[in-house]
Amino acid sequence: EISSIYGREVLDSRGNPTVEAEVKLVCGAVGKASVPSGASTGIFEAHELRDGDETRFEGKGVLNAVRNIDEKISPVLIGMDASKQVLVDHAMIEADGTKNKEVLGANAILAVSLANARAAATAMQVPLYRYLGGAMARVLPVPMMNILNGGKHASNIVDIQEFMIVPFGAPSFHEALRWGVEVYHTLGKLLKKQGLSTAVGDEGGFAPDLESDEAAIHTIIEAIETAGYTTDEIGIALDAAASEWYTDGEYILSKRKQRMDTGALIDHLKKLADEFPILSIEDGLADRDWTGWTRLTQEVPIQLVGDDLFVTNTQRLEKGIKEHAANSILIKVNQIGTLTETFEAIEMARSAGYTAIISHRSGETEDTSIADIAVAAGTGQLKAGAPARTDRTAKYNRLMRIEEALGDAAMYAGRETFKRL
Ligand code: PGA
Ligand code: ZN
Repeated sequence: EISSIYGREVLDSRGNPTVEAEVKLVCGAVGKASVPSGASTGIFEAHELRDGDETRFEGKGVLNAVRNIDEKISPVLIGMDASKQVLVDHAMIEADGTKNKEVLGANAILAVSLANARAAATAMQVPLYRYLGGAMARVLPVPMMNILNGGKHASNIVDIQEFMIVPFGAPSFHEALRWGVEVYHTLGKLLKKQGLSTAVGDEGGFAPDLESDEAAIHTIIEAIETAGYTTDEIGIALDAAASEWYTDGEYILSKRKQRMDTGALIDHLKKLADEFPILSIEDGLADRDWTGWTRLTQEVPIQLVGDDLFVTNTQRLEKGIKEHAANSILIKVNQIGTLTETFEAIEMARSAGYTAIISHRSGETEDTSIADIAVAAGTGQLKAGAPARTDRTAKYNRLMRIEEALGDAAMYAGRETFKRL
């Protein structure tokens, strides 16, 4: 039974304020969670409540969201059974009363939703992944590690937001992570040798001024091979974040001053997927370009992930399934704002034969809930940035600990995850 709820303002990895919540139960158990924040945010995401008071944090303060936890959410939830996560989440959705959670703020609601699950897990003396996933939860996800950053996450001249390495051929999660680290460090050395910058972007990947998408991919392949691996073991995934490029029905890649219509962009992506060992492309097209998405999905036979397109929202995913747009969904807890709705989106994807990837945001905290959620839901894929910087490695380290705790029962998702497509 929930006895008290408390909110506070803390900082995320970019040094912006974000919401943390603590949920206390009558039995003495406490759960704490903080929420992440995006930069290339989808326009259809649930509402992140910011104060807009320019005298604090350039308007980015979250004191109103914190106050909503203390004064509006708390009286509704106190006395409720914390183990009834769905009812707790529904009570908050109802108290908010809007589709996008704009009254209480999705940041306020999500912090409480996650903290409540943690408190319930603690009360039952089980780890979060076990509490959410049950006795059979044992699949460790393939990590998609973003080692080269562009777009809104870096101030270089690369328009594609993320170039990720995907060590699907590794025998275990901890080996996959080691492979990733070795490739990441090798890439750093290669860039240095070429006289390019090894400064990093928001997600810990390098942010060099490479002159084309092809050059970036070539350099990553060179890093994979120099580190002693092949592209049959470590694939490449991209997040174009193309919604950021979309203006008036056209794609304007502002960093390199290129313009493309939907057809030309599809051709470009198809060429990249044909020429290189690319397993997955996220947001290859914009979130408003539904007909383009259907065409892309017909023409490019790899994993096509809807992030801004679906925003972890079952209504948008349902439309996508109907229109054969994409074949995979990116799952971000703060795009939708409750654990219950997050699991609903994963379930809908699964029954339609879509893959699901649990994801961090470019602005993160030390909170590791997404690692547990990935194992609980058994999605087989997780993206949490480069294998460097504590805001990113916290998630990977949590997965190492889960793998260790599972012992012989642990299963690395590996190759199987990508065979389905
Ligand atoms: P964001 O980027 O967290 O800045 O939205 C991550 C992504 O686009 O996948
Ligand atoms: Zn994305």
